[in-house]
Amino acid sequence: MIGYPLSHTFSPSYFAEKFKQEGIEDAEYQAYSIQDAEMFLGLITADHVGFNVTIPHKEAVIPLLTSLSDEASQIGAVNTILVQGDELIGYNSDVYGFRQSLERWAGSALADRALILGSGGASKAVQYVMSQLGIAYQIVSRKADYLQYSELTPAIIDSHRLIINTTPLGMSPQVDSCPPIPYEYLGSSHQLYDLVYNPEKTLFLQRGEAAGAMIKNGHDMLILQAEKSWSIWNQTEGEY
Ligand SMILES: NC(=O)c1ccc[n+]([C@@H]2O[C@H](COP(=O)([O-])OP(=O)(O)OC[C@H]3O[C@@H](n4cnc5c(N)ncnc54)[C@H](OP(=O)(O)O)[C@@H]3O)[C@@H](O)[C@H]2O)c1
Repeated sequence: MIGYPLSHTFSPSYFAEKFKQEGIEDAEYQAYSIQDAEMFLGLITADHVGFNVTIPHKEAVIPLLTSLSDEASQIGAVNTILVQGDELIGYNSDVYGFRQSLERWAGSALADRALILGSGGASKAVQYVMSQLGIAYQIVSRKADYLQYSELTPAIIDSHRLIINTTPLGMSPQVDSCPPIPYEYLGSSHQLYDLVYNPEKTLFLQRGEAAGAMIKNGHDMLILQAEKSWSIWNQTEGEY
């Protein structure tokens, strides 16, 4: 894995535990804390089958790669790299992780209109999945080109039953913060999905739950995207 800084990252301990549990003795998952994405090329040895990429290199790594999957190319962000000889192929396994976890959670009850809070890297993967699923969405952001948090009326909240937090608001240790949406307009037909997984129940989810909404955190997505990366490196799935 490459990123900076990498002090609190989940993947190294996840893969160490996976290798132990599954008796995989010929694999190792290492974290390389590099400040500059270009340092990545100097790290690659014949032993590497792939890399995960995290903040802040998900976009900066793209020009260093040989090719991209359709998803990574459309989203403009890579979180998984497959090393194949001299080729470096970029993928985005967040798309798979988010879609699978969303569908397993809400299934056929999934709302048909969504608000996506935040417009960063994870938001782009979420937007891609919304388009795949035919769910109409609006992005809510601090940036002027999108719907503003202060513009969220009862009518908008009422007509968008799926609300997805892709901002880091509420993430440990800032557990007392949450996206500034009008929680008082939420009801039991709303579905709140938070990409944040630590704490397990963010303030965003607590306030949704108090209003009777269905709630889901980003833990399953995290596991699913890690397993997808593993299958990409092992090339165990035909569609890659
Ligand atoms: N569960 C998983 O598997 C998974 C996968 C990927 C990411 N995540 C989580 O998703 C979160 C976002 O990750 P990312 O890679 O997309 O980060 P990012 O590229 O930095 O984007 C985060 C976005 O959140 C908004 N934001 C940031 N600070 C804010 C604030 N103080 N108030 C309101 N909005 C704020 C910004 O959007 P605007 O400028 O549009 O307001 C920003 O673009 C992180 O907590 C990350 O851990 C989880």
